[in-house]
Amino acid sequence: MLARSLHLADLDAAARLGARLAGLLETGDAVLLEGGLGAGKTTLARAVIAALTGETDAPSPTYTLTQSYEAPGGFLLLHADLYRLDDPGALDELGLDEALDHGAALIEWPDRLGAWRPADRLEIRLEETGDGGRDVHLAAHGNWETRLDRLA
Ligand SMILES: Nc1ncnc2c1ncn2[C@@H]1O[C@H](COP(=O)(O)OP(=O)(O)O)[C@@H](O)[C@H]1O
Ligand SMILES: [Mg+2]
Repeated sequence: MLARSLHLADLDAAARLGARLAGLLETGDAVLLEGGLGAGKTTLARAVIAALTGETDAPSPTYTLTQSYEAPGGFLLLHADLYRLDDPGALDELGLDEALDHGAALIEWPDRLGAWRPADRLEIRLEETGDGGRDVHLAAHGNWETRLDRLA
């Protein structure tokens, strides 16, 4: 595992990080977005979606739990918000494994995943800071280790 931290001063900085992340995504990638309510998980996911698909008004999958996007070239991007997943048995129905067969997954509240934790994964923990920005703690596992330098 390789770890790194950075600071996002504002929403523009979050958009730039999302765009860099979008440029690094490959089929099979799991990106786990951690942090409390309001930490900035959806904001970062939206930045990735916007960079990959041009969709600038992606809905938060608060109630649908997942939302799929297709980027040019057929690359699929799954955005999941598992906050309301209370039955771990329902995990199978979310199609996470299928999503990773055809693209990448951005997953908010990954603590709900239980034992489902791909070996190749990027964990991003967001924390609000007193100045209105966010601290970002990155933990690169598996094949993400070789890409961390291009992200932060
Ligand atoms: N990097 C950032 N800098 C400043 N404000 C941010 C940043 N990221 C998110 N915000 C703001 O914080 C609020 C909550 O963000 P959101 O992404 O919905 O959080 P979460 O999905 O973690 O609950 C939004 O109003 C958003 O504009
Ligand atoms: Mg959210």
